[in-house]
Formats: sequence, C-alpha cells, structure tokens
Amino acid sequence: MSKTPQEMIEAFKYPPNHHYDLATMTPRGELQARLRAFDKVTPGLLTEGRRFLDVGCNKGFFTLRAAEHFEQVVGIDDKKYQDLWKELSRPNVEWVSELFQMYVPHKERFDKIFFGNVHYKLWMPSNSWDWVAKLATLSSGEVFIEGPVDNTEPLLAKLSIFDHPEFNFEGFMWHMGEHFTLTVKAPHPVIKGRWLMSFQRKLDAFDKKLQWEKVKARIDRKIVATPAGETYQLIDGLICKIRRWGKFSRDGQDLRSLDIARLSPISNGLEFLVYEGDSFVGWAEKPVRLGKYASQLEVFQAVCQHEIFLLRNGFFDVDPAYINFGVNEQGILQCFDKDGVIAFRDCPDHWKRLFFDQVMVRHFPKIVRNTEIMTLLVSAMETSDILKLEHAFSETLEILRR
Ligand SMILES: C[S@@+](CC[C@H](N)C(=O)[O-])C[C@H]1O[C@@H](n2cnc3c(N)ncnc32)[C@H](O)[C@@H]1O
Repeated sequence: MSKTPQEMIEAFKYPPNHHYDLATMTPRGELQARLRAFDKVTPGLLTEGRRFLDVGCNKGFFTLRAAEHFEQVVGIDDKKYQDLWKELSRPNVEWVSELFQMYVPHKERFDKIFFGNVHYKLWMPSNSWDWVAKLATLSSGEVFIEGPVDNTEPLLAKLSIFDHPEFNFEGFMWHMGEHFTLTVKAPHPVIKGRWLMSFQRKLDAFDKKLQWEKVKARIDRKIVATPAGETYQLIDGLICKIRRWGKFSRDGQDLRSLDIARLSPISNGLEFLVYEGDSFVGWAEKPVRLGKYASQLEVFQAVCQHEIFLLRNGFFDVDPAYINFGVNEQGILQCFDKDGVIAFRDCPDHWKRLFFDQVMVRHFPKIVRNTEIMTLLVSAMETSDILKLEHAFSETLEILRR
C-alpha cells in the first residue's frame, strides 16, 4: 500500500529537527524551538515578502509555511525528495530538485532567502565560499542564515570540517560582507556554537541603471564595432559595451549570466547597466590594465580560475579568450568578454565544441599542445558533468603551477 504524505515525511529521518504535522502545519520537537527563535530574532521571516527561496528545503516545512503568505516560493534540494514534493504541490510553490550550485533561477530575484542549517554543506563539495557570489545574484533583500558556526560547534567538529583552514567564521563573514550587511546575529536556540544571522543585500552596480540616451552624451570614441554590438570608451575612461541581444541572444544567457560573470575572480567588475526604455542593452566597466598577464600560461591560469568559479555556480564561459584588457599598440581593445557566459545546463554541445575548436586553438596553442591537459579537459567536457569539469580545470591549474 502506498504511503500517505505524512508517512512519507516521517520516513525521512534526517534531519531530526525537521518534523511536523502536515495537516495542521504544526512543528514537532526541536523544530518548535527553532521556529520560536526565528520568530523572535526576525519576525516576518516566513510571512513578509513576495518571493521566497528555501535552500536545502528538505521535507518542506519552511517552504509550505512561506507559501501561505508569499506570492511565489521556491524550495530546492536533492532529488531524493521528489516523490514527497509531488504530494506537497501548491499553486505558488516550485520544488526544484537540484543542488544550489547548479540552480539557474528565473529572472526575478528573491526578496527573502532562507538557509536552514545548510551553509556548511554548500561549502563542502569544493571547499570554497564561492557560492556566496551566487547568493548575491539571487537576492534583492533579506537573507536569513541559520548555521554559520564558530570553531566550537560540536556537530561540525565531528565532520573534521574545521581541519580546513578556510572553513571559519571570518572567511564566511568576509565573503558575505562583499555583498551583504549583517543586521541580526543571535545564538542558535538548540545547537551551541551555531548562529542565527540575517543579512540585507547591499545596493551595487547592478542596481544602477542608466538610459542609453544619457550614456551617449558621455562617449569619447567608438573603439570597436562587430555584428554583436559596439564598444565605446566614455569620457571618464570607462568602457561601455552595447549589445545586439535580439540577433545574438543564446538560450540561458541574459542578465543572470552577466551578474555572475562580473563577480568572477578575473572580472573587472561592472559600473552600471545601460537600458533603452525598459530593455537592457549593455553595461559599463573599468578597462583592465594592459599587460596584467605576462604570458599565455598566466592568461590560461586566469581562465581556469574563472571557469572554476563559474562552474561552481552553474555557469560556463564558452569564450574566455579576451581577458588581457586595455587598448594595445594597434589600438585594439582586448577585454574580459562577459558575453560568453552561459548556464551550463543550457549550453548546447556546439558551444562546448566552440570552446575547444576555436578558443583553445586560436588563443592557447601552447595549452593545446599539452596532451595531459587537453585529455583532462576534453574528456571532462564530454561527460557533461559540471563537477567533473570543475575538477578538470582545478587539476589543470595544478599542472600549470608545477
Ligand atoms: C541539515 S538539513 C536542513 C534541512 C532544512 N533546511 C531545515 O532547516 O530543517 C540540510 C539539507 O540541505 C540539503 N543540501 C545539502 N547540500 C545541498 C546543496 N548543495 N543544495 C541544496 N540543498 C542541499 C540536504 O539534502 C538537506 O536536506
């Protein structure tokens, strides 16, 4: 006989502090204490806002609670909860069976994001805080994180997670501080050494929108024009790129890919977005110092760092060739071209082939001659497994540093 939804919930024992009665939505056991503490430190967490994201939503208590108040709610977690979620469907809830790192959201950001005891799990697959950049691209408001830990946390000590020097509270806070302001920090009601923290996303260049008509008045000269668009130098030295999205737009590539690309470790950032009426048509950025990279190998190391960061966040750059920026002696602009960034899962095979057939052969002939590296990268790419490709770029970086 098939199980009732309540029995399905109970069949998932983990985590022990996430038990509830579905019919009445009443929390049981430690979930009660957690909920009371959340209400006390951030009243309105599950009731105030429009779009709510529950990362690591598990058996769905917080997702369903939020769905009673928010217009749209997304819960994401491992696919093992899929069957249960089918039973918990609601018109305003989307259950996403995907890891946070791979998740490519709808275009609109979330004004409320909830992380219930999941932040260290996001750190673990690649021992990195790169996922915080992804969080910044998803948030337009409050992020509530249950779980940042100090080094006395007893449960995590068992996982030997503190053996890694970069897994510490300061590292986490540094990365969060790049994009968020801390508004609440309170001790966890049940787990010693763990915190309840609320953050507010800082306004940044992505919120700064200028109309193309106004930007035109600041043009010093046109640097280059291609069928994909034009690149201008503005009177204050900024580089402004206007793109013909209609003609060249690719599936899965839009403002979200620009948003993550600009946070790449090799990026020269972003100064403001350019709009024509309501349409996004381009952006401005600082030029990169010419000669930043001394050799082709150095450029390729930067490419690896760039791809590792993107793949950890579900994206891939099919054309990471132009990263040694500025205007060279021939007056040609070389740039970190944010255009080539695309959601990995939407990246068609022919774009992946382009990466090897054109980018590698044309721009990195020395790397192409290194059969160890090429075998690594090509075979990882053929699997279409994003984690394998990330590891292949990490190994390539190791080989290049030897
Ligand atoms: C300790 S449980 C917390 C469950 C729930 N958030 C709560 O507060 O009760 C951690 C959850 O995070 C999920 N998880 C782990 N890594 C994840 C990832 N990379 N992306 C999304 N969910 C993840 C696990 O499957 C598990 O359901």
